[in-house]
Amino acid sequence: MERLTGAGVGPLAVGAVGLLILLRLIQRARGKQILQDKVVVITGASSGLGKECARVFHAAGARLILCGRDQKRLQEVVQELRAVTDGQRKTYTPCTVTFDLSDTDTVARAAVEILKCHGHVDVLINNAGISYRGNILDTHVSVQRDVMETNYFGPVALTQAILPSMVERGSGHIVAISSVQGKIAIPYRSAYAASKHATQAYFDCLRAEVERFGLQVSIISPGYIRTNLSVNAVTGDGSKYGVMDKTTASGREPTEVAHAVLKAVRHRQKDVLLAGPLPTLAVYLRTLWPAAYFRVMASRAKKEQRIKEQ
Ligand SMILES: NC(=O)c1ccc[n+]([C@@H]2O[C@H](COP(=O)([O-])OP(=O)(O)OC[C@H]3O[C@@H](n4cnc5c(N)ncnc54)[C@H](OP(=O)(O)O)[C@@H]3O)[C@@H](O)[C@H]2O)c1
Ligand SMILES: *[C@@H]1O[C@H](CO)[C@@H](O)[C@H](O)[C@H]1NC(C)=O
Repeated sequence: MERLTGAGVGPLAVGAVGLLILLRLIQRARGKQILQDKVVVITGASSGLGKECARVFHAAGARLILCGRDQKRLQEVVQELRAVTDGQRKTYTPCTVTFDLSDTDTVARAAVEILKCHGHVDVLINNAGISYRGNILDTHVSVQRDVMETNYFGPVALTQAILPSMVERGSGHIVAISSVQGKIAIPYRSAYAASKHATQAYFDCLRAEVERFGLQVSIISPGYIRTNLSVNAVTGDGSKYGVMDKTTASGREPTEVAHAVLKAVRHRQKDVLLAGPLPTLAVYLRTLWPAAYFRVMASRAKKEQRIKEQ
C-alpha cells in the first residue's frame, strides 16, 4: 500500500501542476480584455509614450480619442494612424480633443466633448505629464503648484468627470502613467516626485473604491523612457529645462513601454513597476531599510551638486 502511494506521488504531482497551469491559462484567457472596438482615451498623445500608446491601441482595433494641447500635432498623429491599415483587423480613425490639463474648468468641458465622441469611454489612459529639474531652495512655489496642476489635478479632474459614466455602465478601466518617482523620491525632482506620489495614492484609493462597480484601475510606474520629457521639463523659475538628459536618452524605448501599458489593460494588472534591478532595489530599500535609502539619496544629492558647481 505504502509502495503504491510512493510510486503514485510523482505522476500525481506532475498532474496537479499541469492542472494548475491549465486552470491559470484558462483564467487568463477568460480574464483577457479584448480591445477591438473599445473606446480608449489617451492624454498626451502628441508625443513620446502617449503617441506610442496611440499606435499600439490603434493597431489593437481600439476607437481612439487623442488628447493634447496642440491640435496640429494631434492631427499629425491621426494622419499617421490613418495610413496604417491591417488587413486582418478593423481599425478606426481617431478623434481628437484639445485642452490644457492644468486648467480644471477646461478639463470638465473637454470631458463632455470626449464622452460625445462615442457616447462612452472604455479605457482612460492618463498619460500626459511634465517633468521638473531644480533645487528646492531656488524653486518658486508657483512652479511646485504648476507641476501638480498638470500631473495631478488635471488627471484627477478628467478621471472624476468620466467616472460617473463608467459607474453607470458598470465597466471601465482607468490607467495612470506614474513613474518610479511615484514610489521613491530622488533629489532635485521635488515637484515631479511629489506629483507622482500623489498620483499613486489617489489611484490606489480609486481602485479600492470602484472595484464594487466592476471598474479597473492600473498604475504603471516606468523608469526612464527615451522621450522628450526632460527637454520639455520646467526648472525652478518656470523656464524650460531644454536638455536631453543622458538618463532619459538611454532609457527604454517608448514602444516597449506602450506594449506594457497594453498588457496591463488586457490582463487588468493593478500596479506595474517597469524598472531595472537598481531602481527596483531602491523601491524595496525605501520600505525595508529607509535609513540606508536616505543615506544613498543624500550622497547622490551632494554628488550632483558638486558636478553642477564644476
Ligand atoms: N520619459 C520618461 O523618462 C518617463 C519616465 C517615467 C514616467 N514618464 C511619464 O510618462 C508620461 C508621458 O511623458 P513622455 O515621456 O512621453 O513625455 P513627452 O514626450 O514630453 O510627452 C508629454 C505629453 O504630455 C502632454 N502635456 C504636457 N503638458 C500638458 C498639459 N498642461 N495639458 C495637456 N497635455 C499636456 C504633451 O502634449 P502637448 O505638449 O502637445 O500638449 C505631450 O503629449 C508622463 O506622465 C511622464 O511623467 C516618463
Ligand atoms: C522629440 O522632439 C523632436 C522635435 O520636436 C521630434 O522630432 C521627436 O520626434 C520627439 N521625440 C519623441 C520621442 O517624441
